[in-house]
Amino acid sequence: ELPEPFKVPLPVPATARPVATDGGRDVYEVTQREAEVEILPGLKTTIWGYDGGFPGSTFVGRRGRPVSVRVRNRLPVPTSTHLHGGITAPESDGYPTDLLLPVGCGNPARPAGGRWTPAASHGDHVAPGDWQLREGEKTYEYPLDQQAATLWYHDHRMDFSGPQVWRGLAGFFLVHDEQEQALPLPSGERDIPLMICDRSFAADGALVYPALDDSCTGIPGVQGAYAAGVLGDVQLVNGAPWPVLEVAAVRYRFRLLNAANARRYRLALEADGRPGGPLVQIGSDAGLLERPVAHEAITLAPAERFDVVVDFGRFPPGSTVTLVNTIGEGQMRQVLQFRVTRQAKDDSAVPTRLAAPAQPLGRDQAVAVRHFDFRRTEAGDDQAMWTINGRPFTTTDTWATPRLDTVELWRLSSDFHHPVHLHLAQFQVLTRGGKPRAATDAGWKDTVDVRPYEVVEVLVRFRGYRGRYMLHCHNLEHEDMAMMANFDVV
Ligand code: C2O
Ligand code: CU
Repeated sequence: ELPEPFKVPLPVPATARPVATDGGRDVYEVTQREAEVEILPGLKTTIWGYDGGFPGSTFVGRRGRPVSVRVRNRLPVPTSTHLHGGITAPESDGYPTDLLLPVGCGNPARPAGGRWTPAASHGDHVAPGDWQLREGEKTYEYPLDQQAATLWYHDHRMDFSGPQVWRGLAGFFLVHDEQEQALPLPSGERDIPLMICDRSFAADGALVYPALDDSCTGIPGVQGAYAAGVLGDVQLVNGAPWPVLEVAAVRYRFRLLNAANARRYRLALEADGRPGGPLVQIGSDAGLLERPVAHEAITLAPAERFDVVVDFGRFPPGSTVTLVNTIGEGQMRQVLQFRVTRQAKDDSAVPTRLAAPAQPLGRDQAVAVRHFDFRRTEAGDDQAMWTINGRPFTTTDTWATPRLDTVELWRLSSDFHHPVHLHLAQFQVLTRGGKPRAATDAGWKDTVDVRPYEVVEVLVRFRGYRGRYMLHCHNLEHEDMAMMANFDVV
């Protein structure tokens, strides 16, 4: 039985506190561990969380002030932590085979093939010597030499990102900068990150994921019926089912994140059953837009972020306003409810100019054109694989060698919905389906919703670091079925 919607108050994840702030750097410690939490009213759910939270604590950083995060692994499985949207050196980027093994798990240097480096179904994507194994603790360095944006962090372990994120390994990482803080946007308690995802639960409250092996230590992958991706039947926001938030009749900034494994959302506001007016977009994945854009609805593919402002001042106190998913069915059409309970003073505004002009990239700036085709490929004996350019992922192959500080035109095509994400590099969408980009494609992005039989052209800027990075489908089941490719920035 599903919980009744709009009873549970919206939780807002706590802000992470540094353990040290030396030499212009903030140092944090995080322990990945199991915890029992109440998600469905009256039931206990075992999760895997950063410091036992789902979502994990929200990190708040500033442009140009580096952050170190010492991650300790007290889970029964290896992990790899990726800061999604971070401009991060390869060693700290959370590459899927760069594993952090559990504290006290034994000798990490033993030959690959042990319990931590499955040789089963997908194991042939990784050459035995290419696993990087470290036991117990690892420090990730985030220079934050990047503009204000809504980033997030999540698990990225080879073959097991789907089940491990499903169990709770995800959180927000917000970056601020001076230009953003000089703007009169809603802030403080009126700046709220919303991690939107779906999950399924057993009658006793346990999370249910259709893994071939539920321990995450044996055979990776999902039961065949879920090869297109795993959907849940309970809608969560910040880890709570169909929550409710009491708001004043003023502007709020919401950082929308689709943290679902595979579900796409088309979000809109409804007020007392009627269209509830626009979501005013101020930022995209990688930072603020040059100018705000009002949308009646916003489609969010997995891992995309939309930073929006909602003005509840247009509703009389006593109104209820619902964030709905217009492509969700039944109760999955509902997401989150706002109750406008009071008047308040509002000195916020959405200025017509938000960020410095975005320096729109032009086709003529591209020094190379590359094509990446995301497709299901038959692999013989009735097996299918999700591939990029027809090739299964391996750790050692490279699909592209862009040069540092250049721009390239990448053409992304697909047979299905594939949310395509690039590590390190941010891009601007140039065209979609042969037409100029959609209004919701504006700004600097790191993830783009490539729809069935569509070509999306993006102009990618390679900046920050040389080394091995990846692009992949962010449908986590496709990702775990190796829909990933390396690129080497040279
Ligand atoms: Cu959000 Cu490579 O991942
Ligand atoms: Cu995909």
